[in-house]
Formats: sequence, structure tokens, C-alpha cells
Amino acid sequence: MKQEFNKLQSPMKIGRLSIPNRVVMTAMGTNIAAAGGGVNDDVIAYYEARARGGVGLIITEVTRVADGAGGGEPCQLAARRPSDISELQKLANAIHKYDSKLFVQLQHPGREASPFVTGEQPVAPSAIANPMGGRRHAARSFDRGMRGAGAEVRYRCNVCLS
Ligand SMILES: Cc1cc2nc3c(=O)[nH]c(=O)nc-3n(C[C@H](O)[C@H](O)[C@H](O)COP(=O)(O)O)c2cc1C
Repeated sequence: MKQEFNKLQSPMKIGRLSIPNRVVMTAMGTNIAAAGGGVNDDVIAYYEARARGGVGLIITEVTRVADGAGGGEPCQLAARRPSDISELQKLANAIHKYDSKLFVQLQHPGREASPFVTGEQPVAPSAIANPMGGRRHAARSFDRGMRGAGAEVRYRCNVCLS
């Protein structure tokens, strides 16, 4: 690689995490995970190919932290409960073979959730309708759901990145 790109190839640190280079893949929804949010062969193949190609840090697609109105896509990755960690760990192990690191993008779609995907009314912190779709939603149930999900989020991330 040309000398002008040396910096791109140099390692960096985010907190205590060492990233082998400065090539970062931003989050992109794939909709290829198992229906329950599990990491299947397609997911492994997709992310492993990027790691093999030299991406130092991979950010997963939107990963749901709740079921029901918390769904963003029908076949997205999930980080709802500790049992999901073993699935995400399989993915982390696959890309660690190339020294790449994995960030899991946790997501609750809030008022942007589609009832066509979730089969439920969207929930969000306020009752303001989504300007894109004009959808109404319930304010309080979101608050309850996110408190539950939030309590486990830090635990899940720490495990997945180790
Ligand atoms: C198919 C597709 C799916 C995407 N999914 C996500 C996503 O899950 N989470 C997210 O934060 N951004 C998502 N994005 C946005 C990208 O990560 C990125 O920010 C965007 O494409 C702009 O990048 P650019 O400025 O390099 O073109 C998606 C983009 C595309 C094209």
C-alpha cells in the first residue's frame, strides 16, 4: 500500500480496545439473521468476508434489544437476553480470527417501528407521532421496556467484545 495510506494501516485504541487499523465498517442492516435473531451461516459469512478483507472494526447492523414493538427488521440480530450472547459470541469469534473487532449496534426503533414488521403499535418516550409515517404510539410502555432492556445492555456488550 502507498506510503500516503500508512496511517490507515496503523493500529488505534478505543478505550482499552486495540483495533488493528483505521478501517471501520459502519452499521448496515442485512436482514439475513435467523428469524429469532440468531447468528446463522449467512451472517458469519457476510461479516467474516469483511474481516478477511482487512476491516479493523466492524459495527453490526441494528441489533434488537426487545421483541414485539422493539423489532426493526424481520431477520435482524438480537441482544435481548443473556442467551443471545452465545450467538453474538460466535460472530465475534469468527472475525477475531482476523484480529478484527466487533461493536454491536443496539437498537430499539421507537416511533419508527413498522407495525407491518412487528404486528404491534410502536412505542416511544413521547406521544409525538413519527413525521415520516405519522404513526401514533404508546408512550409509557416504551419507558418500561427500555428500562428492562437497558439494565442488561452494558453486560451484553462487555461479554461480546471480550
Ligand atoms: C443498506 C443500508 C443499511 C444501513 N443500516 C444501518 C444500520 O443498521 N444502522 C446505522 O446506524 N446505519 C445504517 N446505515 C447507514 C450507514 O451505516 C452509513 O452511515 C450510511 O450509508 C452513510 O455512509 P457514507 O456517508 O459513507 O455513505 C445503512 C446504510 C445502508 C446503505
